[in-house]
This record gives sequence, C-alpha cells and structure tokens, in this order.
Amino acid sequence: MRIAVFGADGYLGFPLSLCLLGRGHEVIAVDNGVTARRAACTGAPSVPADPGPLEQRLGGTGATVVEADVRDQERVRQLLQDVDVVVHLAQQRSAPYSMLSPEHALETVSDNLDSTMAVLFACRETGTRLVKLGSMGEYGTPSVPIPEGEWTLELGGRTARLWFPRSPGSFYHASKVCDSVYLRFACQCYGLTCIDVQQGPVVGVNTAELRERNACTRVYYDDVWGTVVHRFCAQASAGHPLTVYGRGGQTRGFLSLADSTWATATACEQIMDLPAGAYMEINQIAWTRSVRQLAEEVAALARERGCPAALSHVPNPREGCELEEHFYEVEAAVLRNWGLVAEEPQQVLGETLDYMLAHSRELRASVLAPRHTFRDGGDTCRDGHG
Ligand SMILES: NC(=O)c1ccc[n+]([C@@H]2O[C@H](COP(=O)([O-])OP(=O)(O)OC[C@H]3O[C@@H](n4cnc5c(N)ncnc54)[C@H](O)[C@@H]3O)[C@@H](O)[C@H]2O)c1
Repeated sequence: MRIAVFGADGYLGFPLSLCLLGRGHEVIAVDNGVTARRAACTGAPSVPADPGPLEQRLGGTGATVVEADVRDQERVRQLLQDVDVVVHLAQQRSAPYSMLSPEHALETVSDNLDSTMAVLFACRETGTRLVKLGSMGEYGTPSVPIPEGEWTLELGGRTARLWFPRSPGSFYHASKVCDSVYLRFACQCYGLTCIDVQQGPVVGVNTAELRERNACTRVYYDDVWGTVVHRFCAQASAGHPLTVYGRGGQTRGFLSLADSTWATATACEQIMDLPAGAYMEINQIAWTRSVRQLAEEVAALARERGCPAALSHVPNPREGCELEEHFYEVEAAVLRNWGLVAEEPQQVLGETLDYMLAHSRELRASVLAPRHTFRDGGDTCRDGHG
C-alpha cells in the first residue's frame, strides 16, 4: 500500500515509518520540524539532541520525504493523491506546553484543529483512509471502566449506544476530543473511513527496525515534552531525585514504543477491511501503572545499576486538573484480537534507563525538575510560541 505518515520526524513517526517500510509498504514521510523548534524554545533538547535530517535517516529505504505543513489544505490534498492510508501524527502533542500561557493554549487548539480539518477534507476528496492518533487522556479518569468505542446507556427505560463521556485534563487533551468529534461526524456525513487511536503514554527508545539500523528516535526528558517514564529515567541517570507529582497515585495505561509502532502499523492494514464510512475507536494501551509505582520500579532498576536513585514527592504541577488517587481500568480488546504480544514493562523500563545512562553527559540539569504548573503556566517561551 501507499501510506503517508504525517509527523514522520517525531518520536513515534520515525520508527513507524521504518516499520511500515519493513512490512513492504511505500511510505511518504511528511514533517515540518516544528516539535524540535518548539522544544528548543522551551530549553528542552531531545536525546540525541540532533538525530540528523529525516531524508538522511530514511536514506536507502525508498521512502519519499516531504517537508510540508499539514495545516495547509491545498498541500495536503496534493500529498494524498493516490495514497491508500494516511497516519496523522502531526500535532502539538504536549499537555504541559498547551498550559504554558493563553498563546500556547490557542496555538495548540488551532494548530491541531487546522491539521485535522486539512486531513479530513483531503481524505474526503481522495478517498484516502485515515488512522488518527488521539489520546487516552480524552477520557480522563472516570470511576468506572473505560470502554473501547461505544457503550450502552440505559435511561428512562430506554437504551442508547453512545460515545463514552470525555473529560480532558488539558487544552491539548481537549483538542484531541474535538478531533474525535469532527472525525466521527465526517465518517457519518462524508463516508470517511477512520480508526481513531486513543493511545496512552508511550515508553521506550527502541524497536526492531531502529536496532537493525542502529538508529535513534527523538526522546524528550524534560517537564514539558518528556513523558513520565522518560523523565524518571533521565533523573535517575543524572543523579536527580525522581520527582513524583503529589501522592503519585495517578494511574494510566502505557505501552512500549515497539508495541505502539506495531499496533499503529497494524491499524494501517486493518483499516482496509473496514466498510466505507466506518469510524472505529481503539484503546491503544498494554499495561497500567501509577506514577508512584513507575518511580519505584525505575529507582529499583537504577540501584541495580549502581545509581543511588531517590524519590521526591513534589507539589503536583497539575493540581486541580487531575486526581492523585483514583480507579482506572481500560478495555483494550482490539489490540489483543489483532495479536499484540506486549513487551514486558520491566524490560522496557530497563532499556530506557540504560539509554539515558548512556547519554547522561548530554542531559541538561536545568530541565530535570518541574518548572511549570498547569494553573499558572510559566514564562518559558512566551514570545516564541510556534
Ligand atoms: N508519544 C506519546 O506518548 C503519545 C501518546 C498518545 C498520543 N500521542 C500522539 O501521537 C502523535 C505523535 O506523537 P509524538 O510523541 O511522536 O510527537 P512528536 O511531536 O515527536 O511528533 C509529531 C511530529 O509532527 C510534526 N508536526 C507537528 N505539526 C506539524 C504540522 N503542522 N505539519 C507538519 N508536521 C508537523 C512535528 O515536527 C513532529 O516531528 C501526536 O498526535 C500525539 O498527540 C503520542
């Protein structure tokens, strides 16, 4: 198949492109480099700081690399001519970034909306099928199990098949809720075919294809761009206490980079079997952990490696926007039915820690501790957003 990967230079997009190429697909890899610019603006380098131009990194694979802004409707229409499936990853993807200031909030919701609308209308015209990366954070942490797709509500002696209620915890997550609303409507109204992937935080640095090419993806470890495990592994590697937000009972569904890549590539193939007009939601997670459990597990692994890792409970920068102790259960049957055999969490945590230890001299100490709160934002990059 011909598959366009929008956001191909990102943490997920690069390994996904390699995985699709490995499965024999033709890949059009599209990016405009904005995440790296935004992260530089908040003083947060990735590890490695500069993995090199995407064209070079995909050299010899046969992929077509295109520098383009996927908010540009006309450009996206051209790019999707004769493309079977587009995977849309190209969005502002940091919840803390979306909470830094009114400008960052607006930038997040408008950029994410613009890109989704451009993709949606191009798909309507070209008949391209869409795999869209959303977030499990759309649902928040309800005190009942989160179903996969629609659920049945019984009220007034009647039943209805409905969407599960959304409860986003940041403007970033709210933008993902809007994406889902627009995509579901577009499937119904225009006959678009879409898999909306509600994914949990992805953990890790490796996939089979990255190992094979001895290549790296961009991994962030600071409080704005780094997800929790990457932050803990970097902190442990740099001899910094592992900063647990509040009591640390915040529980989420995670999956490894290799499992995320496998699942998204599989979605690109499975979508061809869906009837036109189908809107399918999947919950892309493999295992659940609380923040406190993750900190304890990373600290134990660090001690095994001779690092004196300690936990430090800090005031929660997301206070008021998330619960610190709660029930959390997620239905994730589709991935199991597709045959996902998830990597062991301990193996993924250990590998991520070893990666950060190998790069410990590159880690920037000034971004290891939390610098911003969701309530008050922060003045980092106020003038440089975008
Ligand atoms: N990483 C995770 O843990 C995670 C979890 C759930 C959902 N997601 C979603 O998956 C997607 C990819 O996440 P990621 O971690 O790889 O993020 P990322 O920021 O590393 O990758 C996104 C890529 O898209 C590019 N991009 C952004 N806006 C663009 C535009 N307008 N035009 C062209 N390119 C643009 C960026 O330069 C970047 O290379 C995002 O939509 C994110 O919300 C990620």
